Amino acid sequence: MKFEHHVMSQLTLEEKAALVSGKDSWYTATIDRLGLAPMMMSDGPSGLRKQLGTPDQTDINESIEAVCFPASALTACSFDREQLNQLGHQLGTAATAEKLGVLLGPGINLKRSPLAGRNFEYFSEDPYLVGELAAAYVKGVQAEGVGVSVKHFAANNRENRRFTSSSNVDERTLRELYLATFEKVVKQANPATIMCSYNAINGTLSSQNRRLLTNILRDEWGFKGLVMSDWGAVADHTAAIKAGLDLEMPGKGDQSVDEIVTAVKNGSLAEADLDRAVSRVLKMIQDWQPADSKQANPYDMEAQHEFARKLATNSFVLLKNENAVLPINKGDKLAVIGELAAHPRYQGSGSSHVNAHRLVTPLETINQVRPDATFVAGYSLTADRIDQAAIAEAVDVAKSADKVIIFAGYPERLESEGFDKTSIDLPANQNQLIEAVSQVNQHVVVVLQNGSAVRTPWADHVAGMLETYLAGEAVGEATWDVLSGKVNPSGKLAETFPLRLEDTPSYLTFDADLQDENYREGLFMGYRYYDKKKQPVQFSFGYGLSYTMFKYTGLQLKVTGDHVSGTVKVKNTGSRSGAEVVQVYVGNRTSQIEKPIKTLANFVKVSLVPGEEKTVSFELDQRAFSWYNPRKADWQVDNGQYDVLIGSSSTDIRLSDTVELDWAPEQQIHIDQSTYIGDLMAQAKFAKAVEQVGLTDVFKKLADDHDPAAKMFRNMPLRAATTMGVTPAKIDKLIEIMNG
Ligand code: BGC
Repeated sequence: MKFEHHVMSQLTLEEKAALVSGKDSWYTATIDRLGLAPMMMSDGPSGLRKQLGTPDQTDINESIEAVCFPASALTACSFDREQLNQLGHQLGTAATAEKLGVLLGPGINLKRSPLAGRNFEYFSEDPYLVGELAAAYVKGVQAEGVGVSVKHFAANNRENRRFTSSSNVDERTLRELYLATFEKVVKQANPATIMCSYNAINGTLSSQNRRLLTNILRDEWGFKGLVMSDWGAVADHTAAIKAGLDLEMPGKGDQSVDEIVTAVKNGSLAEADLDRAVSRVLKMIQDWQPADSKQANPYDMEAQHEFARKLATNSFVLLKNENAVLPINKGDKLAVIGELAAHPRYQGSGSSHVNAHRLVTPLETINQVRPDATFVAGYSLTADRIDQAAIAEAVDVAKSADKVIIFAGYPERLESEGFDKTSIDLPANQNQLIEAVSQVNQHVVVVLQNGSAVRTPWADHVAGMLETYLAGEAVGEATWDVLSGKVNPSGKLAETFPLRLEDTPSYLTFDADLQDENYREGLFMGYRYYDKKKQPVQFSFGYGLSYTMFKYTGLQLKVTGDHVSGTVKVKNTGSRSGAEVVQVYVGNRTSQIEKPIKTLANFVKVSLVPGEEKTVSFELDQRAFSWYNPRKADWQVDNGQYDVLIGSSSTDIRLSDTVELDWAPEQQIHIDQSTYIGDLMAQAKFAKAVEQVGLTDVFKKLADDHDPAAKMFRNMPLRAATTMGVTPAKIDKLIEIMNG
């Protein structure tokens, strides 16, 4: 007999009720009588936040020491599945050593607006990229014997009023964007658990959304694991269990038990529904409870620190490098400016916060390798007030330096889980400092530390820009590795940097309404919007420079069976070793629906020494060419032409070709009174049918593309053919013949 069935058969109703709520913030319930020990879970996506001491600790920053890895906003820029898989292994190793059953992450919501407070914890604006990287990460963690909780399911794209706001999204957008990340991870990586989000979707709270938690997640996608709530997301536990939620986190103690027991007794909750949730809790414990859950083991934190450093360097995005200002030369006299060099922003705030094992600041690293570099703070991080004396001091040191590195970024006080931002501007004291310093030195490099896209109004005035996001505890070493050229940057932006907040697709609606978050931009989110709107941006999705150059040639595409396979040659034409992210986009020329110009459909990261050329292969499956048809409640591929575009970024397309697909079954169109005359005329049978009815002359005139009247009539339904003098009887006859 399976463990969960064996235990289930011995449980009292009260014990079952206890099991579907957490014992406290981090543990499942204990049933001493049956020897069922509590299983521990902890955040988070970029390092462990295991909290000891009082179980319901409210100081979220107090947790055991752990290595702080780069935040997902940065790791996504690696466009490297292998690196994300290794990150998963590292986290899994740490979690195993700490005797955790489940790690609460990764967060795989999309970055719909740069204002969303929690963007740093998420990967990208593109669902394909998120799905691929998150699946690799999840496989890595779970291979170490620790389960994950993929969060926050679903459409959790703002923080303000996150417990009650309703994300109102049309079905196609939901499927193609906001659910797609979860679908891929569920199908590819089999996560132990999914965490439902706080928000409602189209009016129904995720925690009690049967369509989401049961119909889509389990019945459609085949999810076999457990669904837990986000912390405090359950408003009505009975309704939640009925809808498909298995575990409420944290529990409310006796109140939770009483609620469920009463509901079963008074018939408002079927015991079978409760049993289903209990059995999933038991199965999770059986599958993921560490063998000996008491004693934590030591593990090699220094090796993890080195990995954190490597992951960061492979993810940083070189945004600008005029006249090869970077890498810094050995003899360059350096001025280092910016409080963030000494007090870096290197991790997120809120539940992903890690008590870092060993933070190395940029200033510490630079002081060690370049003791002659001058440092001034230039601004304060605690307030936005412009300090003219600090700016004057910075200008002074900049004047006598060969190169100036300004550390700038978005202060933590303005960017965190739990609330949204109101601006994407850096504090005025930083912007003014950068402008002033760039007036006296032509070799200014700005190193950015931020959780999400920021506005860079001074971009044209500085020579270099390096985006380091929240780089983890090895921020200092990693930043210097790239500035000094020890590592050639290869990251690409996983989100668009707009010129202005007003240019962003959800600008008109984001956080506008306390209750309703209306996704009126629909599918046109991120680069899908900027592309279609031809809206200029500061830096586009997929963009990132290198210290070397890459040349693309020889795109070959082949349609085989149910997929398209392709190859392209990439050559390193510069003088340094480097890595390039080959991005494959698909453009649908065929379907007559609202659609973006192109969407990311695959990517391959390739490392090349100078002069080396490699052939990169990729495959595109049916989904790459599909759209979600809400009328049929299914994915659909239409027969016809599709563009396959190979880019170094979403706006730097190097090669392209088209493929012709005939995967869909031949479409028999049914003709009736509402069929448009133009559509009717495109049918093979048409000429013969009109001849039989004696209408050849009438319709012949309509073929003339230069005659506006002909165009007007083609754009009418058959029933309106009476306006051309066709009798209703003849229309009926024509319909009969066409359908015959
Ligand atoms: C967050 C989750 C997190 C949980 C436990 C919630 O507030 O939304 O992402 O896992 O707290 O810390």
